[in-house]
Amino acid sequence: MTGALAETLPAAGALDVDAIRRQFPILHTTMHDRPLVYLDSAASTQKPRAVLDALLQVYERDYANIHRGVYDLSQRASALHDAARRKVQRFIGARDWREIVFVRNATEAINLVAYSFLRPKLGPGDEILVTEMEHHANIVPWQLVAGETGAKVVAAPITDAGELDLVALRERIGPRTRLLGVTWVSNVLGTVNPVEEITALARRAGVPVLVDAAQAIQHRPVDVSALGADFLVFSGHKMYGPSGVGVLWGRAELLEAMPPWQGGGDMIEEVSFAGTTFNDIPFRFEAGTPDIAGVIALGAAVDWIEGLGMALIDAHETALMAYAERAIRQVPALRLISEPKERSGALSFVMDGCHPQDIGTLLDLDGIAIRTGHHCAMPLHARLGLPASARASIGVYNTTDDIDALVASLRRVADMFG
Ligand code: ALA
Repeated sequence: MTGALAETLPAAGALDVDAIRRQFPILHTTMHDRPLVYLDSAASTQKPRAVLDALLQVYERDYANIHRGVYDLSQRASALHDAARRKVQRFIGARDWREIVFVRNATEAINLVAYSFLRPKLGPGDEILVTEMEHHANIVPWQLVAGETGAKVVAAPITDAGELDLVALRERIGPRTRLLGVTWVSNVLGTVNPVEEITALARRAGVPVLVDAAQAIQHRPVDVSALGADFLVFSGHKMYGPSGVGVLWGRAELLEAMPPWQGGGDMIEEVSFAGTTFNDIPFRFEAGTPDIAGVIALGAAVDWIEGLGMALIDAHETALMAYAERAIRQVPALRLISEPKERSGALSFVMDGCHPQDIGTLLDLDGIAIRTGHHCAMPLHARLGLPASARASIGVYNTTDDIDALVASLRRVADMFG
């Protein structure tokens, strides 16, 4: 640790971050002839060697279609795929492997719940409650089913600090509320919502809850048995796994009562032109050949995270985030757009006189990757009165050196525009 502010970093726990970084080939590449400083993990994390090897190994040694062949290779691929499901089950504390549905990403998981669980229950005047800090994936699927049924999507407000207003949230839960969709961690504000408290509120009112864990699953322990939610969704690509694989967790009794969403192979029991009967959960929701290697590599990502230990990951990232927050506040003309009591993963900001897009472009020339724009959260930016913002987000492989590089580059940008 060599940064100018390094002495202010709290003890980072027992993680050997240098050793972790060595497992990520891409972190040793360059961008514009500068060492890559990757600070866009909220958009997607990079992949460790263990996940890359798992992908390659499946295709080189264990690949065939699953649940369809009596031959050994297909049985082996099926067993690996089934094992990945049990790894995910254990990772999130689900009671039953049948509660784990593999989909493409968190977005598809929310669409599945919107169409299969919620749409049949909706009528004119019904409400789907979300919050002002949701990203589009937790808004638009609900708008689509609301548009088809005469229901409407309403949003619970946030405070100026970028936290949920829990009093207002409680007041928005009414007799017409058919579902509450809430993010655990905001992809823009970095706010960690008190999801257990929120699910308890909703459940007292008899309202089912979907928790979007897309920005939580990679940063903190998740235990669905303790959470009190009905559904939880996340993407593999944000937790060091491959893109194209995501997870819907749902309480078994709810999934069992839900009709299929997409039709095709593997989700059926018996098909004839007179009619079709459907497979049990979770297969009922997994039509067609899945991303077999992707699911298996997601299992490898789970193994990899568990090998590090989620508590240590959390400790390292919390310390690094606190360091980043202190350091970035010293950049002239820069303003953080949120001040949550508990922050995870992401830090978004604006700078006087410089559009976020220009910040991103100038940082890119220094080898620094951040996200700029609306971060798939246009209603949130409208609430904040901002057309866009710049966001630095971290993963377990980031260090104070990365933050120091970010701050030095931001200072140069501030000098240029100040
Ligand atoms: N939702 C992802 C992000 O925040 C894509 O960047």
